[in-house]
Amino acid sequence: MLKRLRNSKGKNITIWFEEKPISAQEGESVASALLCAGVEDLRTAPLSGASRAPYCWMGVCFECLLEIDGQPNRQSCLIPVQEGMRIRRPALNFGESA
Ligand code: FES
Repeated sequence: MLKRLRNSKGKNITIWFEEKPISAQEGESVASALLCAGVEDLRTAPLSGASRAPYCWMGVCFECLLEIDGQPNRQSCLIPVQEGMRIRRPALNFGESA
């Protein structure tokens, strides 16, 4: 679990993950806010179903993909939080049949 620095000066805002409110701070990424809130598995691997979490934190590995404000496959490590943002785990799982 990540922990914010004590001298962090970002304004507190609320984002929504899977319809639950989460406290975040302006200036941090969606991935950071979620991990600081205790969300450790952002998605599951399409084939194996294994839990996945951010790895590179710089837009290379794509392990942090989430649906953000209705847009699928957003790299949550690169996107700053915004008040009222709606975030969901990816809807499509190739390992499951429809
Ligand atoms: S953590 Fe690697 S692309 Fe986001």
